[in-house]
Amino acid sequence: MSADLVRLDKFLSASDKMLSRREASEAVRRGRVAIDGKTVTDSKVRVGSSCSVTLDGEPIFYRRYVYLMMNKPKGTIVASSDSHGEMLVTDFLPGELLRRGVFPVGRLDRDTTGLLIFTDDGNSAHRALSPKSHVSKIYAFECTPPLTEASRRKIEGGVDIGERDGKGRVILTAPAKIEDGRISVTEGKFHQIKRMFHAAGHEITSLSRMEFAGISLDTTLEAGGWRYLTDAETSLFTKDDMIKGDF
Ligand code: URA
Repeated sequence: MSADLVRLDKFLSASDKMLSRREASEAVRRGRVAIDGKTVTDSKVRVGSSCSVTLDGEPIFYRRYVYLMMNKPKGTIVASSDSHGEMLVTDFLPGELLRRGVFPVGRLDRDTTGLLIFTDDGNSAHRALSPKSHVSKIYAFECTPPLTEASRRKIEGGVDIGERDGKGRVILTAPAKIEDGRISVTEGKFHQIKRMFHAAGHEITSLSRMEFAGISLDTTLEAGGWRYLTDAETSLFTKDDMIKGDF
């Protein structure tokens, strides 16, 4: 937290305990909250960055923004609403996070699984998604027919997936790297990987994102499971100079 003061109920609802504003006020009213060891009963008091706040005696930490990763299950839609009855990735998150305004960073197709980051930090999300950032993304794939050496080289060098510039000239995909059933790319166009393989005569039969901006999927997360990013992962996501593809 910066040196700014923030109201106690806001502090509590933006903390790692994820209380709603109502739960926060209730906890304060019941004397469960202390600032610097002194019980407070007014949720309007202001908390500074040097204060230590406890709930039932346990320290709680303010989160200016939240960052989390989900292991996206197959058959789920990356959208915030308008699912037409289909399962959304946000259905796996608690209401408190959604009320905070947490949203998925970028998209994965319905049949794609793996690493999906969520945040309420619009600036970092915007930077991660900007084509100018060339943020590295790694996908595990299976394709049919099996990849040949010639196709691997072709995809790595750049293929025509139908993108054209203002004068109608072909824009090839940026260089990629394929190794051990994984492809690393820096672009994130609609159906990027499927279109790249299709352009080389292969169809993707399975796709799972394993890395984004240097952050690896926590493979202990079950499908639909999520966890907060660690501090190290958060700094990979928020630093000005995100991890780029280097090929
Ligand atoms: N490329 C695709 O084709 N699909 C995804 O879901 C992600 C990247």
